Amino acid sequence: MIDLNATVEGLQGYGLLAAQLEALLADERDFIANAAQFSAFLYSQVEDLNWAGFYLNRNEQLLLGPFQGQVACVRIPFGRGVCGAAAASRETQRVEDVHAFPGHIACDSASNSELVIPLVKDGRLIGVLDLDSPKLARFSEVDQAGLEGLAGIFLRLTDC
Ligand code: SME
Repeated sequence: MIDLNATVEGLQGYGLLAAQLEALLADERDFIANAAQFSAFLYSQVEDLNWAGFYLNRNEQLLLGPFQGQVACVRIPFGRGVCGAAAASRETQRVEDVHAFPGHIACDSASNSELVIPLVKDGRLIGVLDLDSPKLARFSEVDQAGLEGLAGIFLRLTDC
């Protein structure tokens, strides 16, 4: 059953984060600077994350970009793991239990759930935004919609 109070609270929370992100990125369009800021912003403002950051499209491979969290795998082929699935399909992957996901790449054994959002601008896949959590089923549909909205703000305010 949908918990309406939690949904409304969640949406309000992401509305506030959206306004903060707009302000944070307003004066700069450089990709590395904004991607680094966005990673740090997510890691500090979204609860229960152990990794937040970017993998970038380099010739149909994902290459590690700016992030917060533990050291991670550097290159991931399209189609491999959760990030590779998001890149290949260009569809957000919301995984409640990463250990049940075929081919999941365990960079940090503390991770239990994951949300990966493809970053597409003018039809081009720039890369993916990857969020990991030690909590099982950390990301709800409200989280997915809210975080996709934040990714959209990043893409609009950044040269890429
Ligand atoms: N678990 C990811 C790999 C990236 S790390 O979590 C930072 C995956 O399966 O794609």
